[in-house]
Amino acid sequence: MFDESASCKFLLFVLFACDTSAISPSSNFVYDGDVQYEDNNNTLSEVSMPPGQASTISCCINCLMNTSCKAVEICLTPSENKCRLSKGVTNTTGTAAGATCKRYKMKDKCGGEGYTGSNGHCIYDGCQSCDCVGVLTHASGVYGITIGGNSKLVYCSFENGLSWTVIQRREDGSENFNRTWTDYELGFGSPASEVWLGNKYTHQLTVEGHSVLRIELEDFSGNKRYAEYSSFSLADVTDNYRIQVTGYTGDAGDSFSGPCTKCNNGMPFSTYDRENDNAPNDMYYGHCAQWAKGGWWFNACHRSNLNGWYGDSSYAQGITWEAWKGFYDSLKSSTMKIRKL
Ligand SMILES: *[C@@H]1O[C@H](CO)[C@@H](O)[C@H](O)[C@H]1NC(C)=O
Ligand SMILES: *[C@@H]1O[C@H](CO)[C@@H](O)[C@H](O)[C@H]1NC(C)=O
Ligand SMILES: *[C@@H]1O[C@H](CO)[C@@H](O)[C@H](O)[C@H]1NC(C)=O
Ligand SMILES: *[C@@H]1O[C@H](CO)[C@@H](O)[C@H](O)[C@H]1NC(C)=O
Repeated sequence: MFDESASCKFLLFVLFACDTSAISPSSNFVYDGDVQYEDNNNTLSEVSMPPGQASTISCCINCLMNTSCKAVEICLTPSENKCRLSKGVTNTTGTAAGATCKRYKMKDKCGGEGYTGSNGHCIYDGCQSCDCVGVLTHASGVYGITIGGNSKLVYCSFENGLSWTVIQRREDGSENFNRTWTDYELGFGSPASEVWLGNKYTHQLTVEGHSVLRIELEDFSGNKRYAEYSSFSLADVTDNYRIQVTGYTGDAGDSFSGPCTKCNNGMPFSTYDRENDNAPNDMYYGHCAQWAKGGWWFNACHRSNLNGWYGDSSYAQGITWEAWKGFYDSLKSSTMKIRKL
């Protein structure tokens, strides 16, 4: 399920894009032939609608907002009109005698099997990774793919022939990172700006071979550093999404590894409502995620925490990468991204 709600702007966009004079080809849908009313194998939902253009527009909007919908069928049965959302993209029966539904399929603006979904993003149901998207386009951006059977919007970054999937981004403090276990598990934010992909999905991507982690950091003076790990994995939920990284290269320093009570490598994930850290009871309230106001792989507590409180430069409270900036300098931005070898 895509975690995007329709904004006013979005609705205006869709109304305009779907605005058709009696459902002639528009910028989002194109006539795809007539189908028989009985040909409903691909029907997602069917509702009665009053005749007229307004109904058709609202049918189009419902389709654009449902990530499974790839076509609308306007059916004129003897007793009433119907709006049918369909997941089929191609003609099933073509024009058939006695056909009563006019099918309008979403225009393929995306290439290959892609289609345009909510907020204009290209959706590739058949893709389980950015590598797959990269076969069709090299434009970095937000795409809909299927991770472990779930539809998910992700930011794919195509750089120097490599396909990266962004799993974390901070840039302006617009998103709240002081969140629950479930939020961190399923993800939150917007893939184009501040985002946490979700531990469940990042785990799945590591299972599918995304084993390189790159962390890019920027301070408020515009200085940039990076840390890359040639081996990265995230355990599944039964091991609390424990992180393992090795093979550091970069110029930001390695703030994950090393044997120390603050070192984060090898630790399970913690949030304020699910504690898996090693904080002693008399320090950090005995609870790192509460103390640092964000979920992370806390030990007791951390040398790195890119999910801290945005702009907070008090001790270890902000976006922290100790090996570069120490504990009193919250970074302006961070990106965590992963790719296949
Ligand atoms: C679908 O049907 C329409 C109308 O019959 C036809 O023009 C179009 O070529 C068909 N598309 C495909 C992919 O068969
Ligand atoms: C679609 O429905 C028709 C009749 O309703 C049926 O004969 C056909 O097998 C179905 N096709 C699929 C792919 O389910
Ligand atoms: C799309 O519509 C179908 C049928 O109404 C519904 O079962 C499904 O949950 C919807 N999907 C999304 C992503 O809204
Ligand atoms: C973080 O979230 C917890 C739980 O909702 C809340 O008690 C705490 O006040 C929040 N911290 C901040 C700085 O908002």
